[in-house]
Amino acid sequence: MKPARALFLVLIALLLIAWLGRGESPTTKLRADADGLALTPPMGWYPWNEFGQEPQNEELIKETAEALIRSGMKDAGYAYIGPDEGICFSRDATGKLTSNLARYPSGLRGLGDYLHARGLKYALYTDAGTHTCSKAMPGTKGHEFEDMKAFADWRADYVKIDWCNTEGQNPEQAYSRLRDAQLAAARPIVFSLCSWGQGQPWKWAAWVGHLWRTTGDICPPGKASWATAMQNAAANGKLYAAAGPGHWNDPDMLITGMRGLSEAQNRSFFSLWCMMASPLIAGNDLRNMTPSTIRILTNREAIGINQDPLGIQGRIVRREGAVEIWAGKRLFDGSQAVLVFNPASAPVQVEVTAGDVGFAEPEALYIRDLWKHETTGPRSGNIPVVVRSQDAALLRVSRTDSFPLPPIIVADSYRAVFRATANTPLESTQAITVRNNGSGALPLWKVRPGLPSWLSVSVSQSGNTETFSNKVSTAGLAKGHYHAVVRADNHEPLSGLPMSALYYDVDLEVD
Ligand code: GLA
Repeated sequence: MKPARALFLVLIALLLIAWLGRGESPTTKLRADADGLALTPPMGWYPWNEFGQEPQNEELIKETAEALIRSGMKDAGYAYIGPDEGICFSRDATGKLTSNLARYPSGLRGLGDYLHARGLKYALYTDAGTHTCSKAMPGTKGHEFEDMKAFADWRADYVKIDWCNTEGQNPEQAYSRLRDAQLAAARPIVFSLCSWGQGQPWKWAAWVGHLWRTTGDICPPGKASWATAMQNAAANGKLYAAAGPGHWNDPDMLITGMRGLSEAQNRSFFSLWCMMASPLIAGNDLRNMTPSTIRILTNREAIGINQDPLGIQGRIVRREGAVEIWAGKRLFDGSQAVLVFNPASAPVQVEVTAGDVGFAEPEALYIRDLWKHETTGPRSGNIPVVVRSQDAALLRVSRTDSFPLPPIIVADSYRAVFRATANTPLESTQAITVRNNGSGALPLWKVRPGLPSWLSVSVSQSGNTETFSNKVSTAGLAKGHYHAVVRADNHEPLSGLPMSALYYDVDLEVD
């Protein structure tokens, strides 16, 4: 064969191999690609930062859930809530996990139902080792499959799995086994890995779970530490390349609103976590919040940066003395987020350049201040920013002055319950309403096919609210308990990107 012809054939073969291998990039194997969970950073509340182990009980979780709703946090997107390490369950003689009814009189399933009825999602906690950190509860080691089945039976939507008492265990192997156990239990669950960065989960955990701790604890319970928070931000900030929709770096829960922080520190802390696309899991006492804490935690313009569907983790693009300029975070509408953080003890003025922001000069740009809620511009050239000590300016820079918010999905309930009498056919409908508190209306949610024959779901729309009508028909059903998990998918209309899948439970009791 002539050399030119042989070369041509080799080239064709290489092109064919490349074509056949397309779509085999690691991104097609993310866990979230299959379950559609946590395509934006999870938002919610866990008790640990403020309370530690005590007093964790049903009353605290319920009171906090009510406070989360009352304060406007639910409407701003916070949804996952539940106990952290406390004394929630034990292992009985048969090896099965059982709820601690003294502390959780409704049982852990009852608590899940309570939260779901209020349109909240249920978060639980366990450990990959033999015990949880204080040894107050059993860990999952050697019981992964039964335990993840118990969590599914309790209707957990989110599980944080700690790394205490894991001598001799390998994080990637242990957490992968727990992933397999969750998949076997067949309930969609956001998996939060908590090995404090051990085993470098940012290198492999996107295929295992949805978020992973990158650092040690942000504070001991009840004692917010500004210094540790800054260390966590610095370490987590370097890992920006590992984050994206469905797979997040987690520099630990929020300390916003805890004792000992100034308003400026609360604001800059929250700005950093928004800019790093970090999970926003509040850790303060939601029942006793100052108006300033509520304003910070519910600032939808800041949350919009965090919940952006592109899921880019911003990074430090430049330092001017101690001042950090964070950018590199393009948003779904083509605008850019910029954070100027001044950790120093005196106020500063810096000039943010078009280059920092990622726009070519000399464009005329609009600048939105996400804490002052003011737009200036159009202007070209540098953007002068004045920032007080330990405070932050969080900006959005755009070619237009529209600054839309990404979707913020809020449901009135995540559970529909039907009761019927056997041999008396029942046709009944219950509605679940889902609102977009971001900008504008969404396309219709698309319900995944494959529902059981007794259930049908249709979706209708009115403005930014969509109603899921769940219709059950019990003709021919024997006595028993029937359960289905409904999944619906949607996409953000401006960017066309998939949104986190919406899941809820339907229970049918035929007596
Ligand atoms: C670890 C985790 C914390 C908390 C405690 C509970 O330290 O990192 O977030 O869950 O365990 O003991």
